This record gives sequence, C-alpha cells and structure tokens, in this order.
Amino acid sequence: MEENAVVVRMQKRTCVHLAILIVNTIPTTRSVKQLRYLFHYLRATFVIFKSENGNNWITKGICLEALQSAVRASLLVTGGASGLGRGTAERFVRQGARVILVDLPSSQGEEVAKSLGDDANLLQLIFHDKRYMMTVTSAEDVGKAVDLAVSSFGRLDVAVNCAGIGIAVKTYNFNKDKPHPLDAFQNVLVVNTVGSFNVIRLSAGAMGKNDPNSDGQRGVIVNTASVAAFDGQIGQVAYSASKGAIVGMTLPAARDLSSQGIRVNTIAPGLYDTPLLASLPEKVRTFLARMVPFPQRLGQPDEYAHLVQAIVENPMMNGEVIRLDGAIRMQP
Ligand SMILES: NC(=O)c1ccc[n+]([C@@H]2O[C@H](COP(=O)([O-])OP(=O)(O)OC[C@H]3O[C@@H](n4cnc5c(N)ncnc54)[C@H](O)[C@@H]3O)[C@@H](O)[C@H]2O)c1
Repeated sequence: MEENAVVVRMQKRTCVHLAILIVNTIPTTRSVKQLRYLFHYLRATFVIFKSENGNNWITKGICLEALQSAVRASLLVTGGASGLGRGTAERFVRQGARVILVDLPSSQGEEVAKSLGDDANLLQLIFHDKRYMMTVTSAEDVGKAVDLAVSSFGRLDVAVNCAGIGIAVKTYNFNKDKPHPLDAFQNVLVVNTVGSFNVIRLSAGAMGKNDPNSDGQRGVIVNTASVAAFDGQIGQVAYSASKGAIVGMTLPAARDLSSQGIRVNTIAPGLYDTPLLASLPEKVRTFLARMVPFPQRLGQPDEYAHLVQAIVENPMMNGEVIRLDGAIRMQP
C-alpha cells in the first residue's frame, strides 16, 4: 500500500460496504494491484483517486470487482416479478446490486420494483419502467432490456433466466383418445427453452463488450432448469423436455462464450414455495414437502437466490448444472 493512500471513509450498511479512497498521486500499476486486493477484501464498490492537480477520477479496473461479488453488479432477471426471480432480485438488491426486471405486462412487475425501491438509498439502484415489461421470447424485447442495462448501469454483469411456464398434459390421453396438443408443447418449449436461449445470446453480446476483471471474466449467466429435467413425472413431457434442453445447452453455451470470459451455469430447483405452488391446497403442499428427504419442506426463493449469488461469486463454477432440491427424486 502506498503511504499516501488512506481510507477516509468506510461505511457498513445493510451488507453494502462502501469505501472511498483518496490518493494524493496518480497510483502506479503496483499500487493499483494492491488496492484492488484491499478493496476486494473490503467488498468495496469503487475507489476515487485524487491526482496531483486535484482532479478526481474513478479507476475503471477496480469497479470491475463487482463481477466477483454481488455488490454493485448489474443484473438482468427474467421472471423477476415473481417467485425465484423476485427472490433473486431482492437478494441482489440487498447486496447493493442494480437490477432490471424482465417480466410480462400481466405480472406484478411494477409493484415488485416499487417494493424493491422502498429504501430511498436503494431507489437509485433500481430501474424499472412499465415500457420495459416484456416477453423473453421476443428478440426485440430482450434486446431492449439488455440495452437498458448498459445505458442505465454502464454494463451488464449478470443475467438470470427465471421466466418459465409449465403445463400438465399426457403424451396421449387414452381416456379421451386425444394426443397432447402440439401447440401447447411448442409454447412451453418456446417460453422456457427459446426464451432462455434468447436471453443468453443477447446478454452475451453486451457482456462481451465489458472490460474484463483480473481473471479475464466479463459476465455470468445463470439459467433455471428443474429436477423435472431428470425425473420428469407423468404429464410433464413438455415441461421436462424444455428443462432438459436448458440442461443440454449449458455446457456448449459455456464453451461458446469462454473466449470472452462469460460463464454459464444452470440451477435445477426441486420444490419451491413460489406463487406457482402457493395456489395449491395446503394438503397438497404438505404432501409435496414430505417428499423432500431433508430439509423436509419446500425451498424458499432466497435459497435459490443464495446459489445464484454463489455462482456469480465463484469464478471456477462454469458449464455446470446444479440440483438444489433437498435430495428429492420425483416419483413417476
Ligand atoms: N417453484 C418451483 O418449485 C420450481 C421448481 C423447479 C423449477 N422452477 C422454475 O423456476 C422458474 C421460476 O419459477 P417460479 O416458481 O418462480 O414461477 P412463477 O410463476 O412464480 O414466476 C415465473 C415468472 O415468469 C414470468 N414469465 C412467464 N412467461 C414469461 C415470458 N414469456 N416472458 C417474461 N416473463 C415470463 C411470469 O410472469 C412470472 O412472473 C421457472 O422457470 C420454473 O420452471 C420452479
């Protein structure tokens, strides 16, 4: 550490550590490296250097530490108005990240954005606008969301794919002598699989333009599959196929994007307490919870979000599909 560098202010507030450093002279490459370690340790978000002529300037490189922590990261979360996506947005906002929610116009997006912004100090970190409520299946909509992240936050660090739908229809209903409607199958594939891929490909374009951090990393993408990708139940043929495809695209996408330092991982959740399951009768929810070996309950959205954060923060996690399911293996 240069002797003329002093930490003048360090403030801890709801998990967000903010430190401002004032340096009297323009720092050398060596001192910047040392400061980078210090700031990583402090989980600091930015550094202001004061040059000899008194002008302040913010070092580009050190801001990039956001890429290895949830602090100050710029996120795009699809399905962010409900369940696992909402839980992810809430956790990252608590950590000081800036989030763009992508969800359907019919969703609770506006209310969720307001609830996230209740804390006046965090309000500036949130950007949500009804014009940008959209569908993940549209190239134009997702392109706008990605552009919005870049124009609002300067960069896009993390994209989390949580938007998804499910149906329960058998391949062939022999009682009614009726095959699975093809359009219903296609719709699930389009929203879950094509929608996720749409977000992956367009986010990657923006992330690829980021300055890399010290590890060469430019961005992180997290997808959401399901245990149904592996243990598909009766009636889940479309849903399981759509989630299996997300599992299948994880490694090739990670390999495709590795040249730019963009990591791609997928979480396969078990049973979570989201609005999806909240609509079920208590008896059914209890029955479902009992199927989980341990802990014998439904997962909480924040437990899913916790893993998203761990993935973002761990640079070695790449090309992987992780079950987060309390060891459940679904019955037929
Ligand atoms: N909850 C669980 O137990 C569970 C288990 C395994 C996997 N998952 C998966 O996790 C993801 C999130 O599930 P959840 O339980 O939070 O569901 P949810 O219904 O609470 O939230 C899904 C959100 O996605 C949005 N959405 C749907 N279609 C969209 C589209 N075309 N464009 C933009 N947004 C769209 C919905 O409006 C909703 O806000 C889904 O992909 C789901 O398949 C959930």
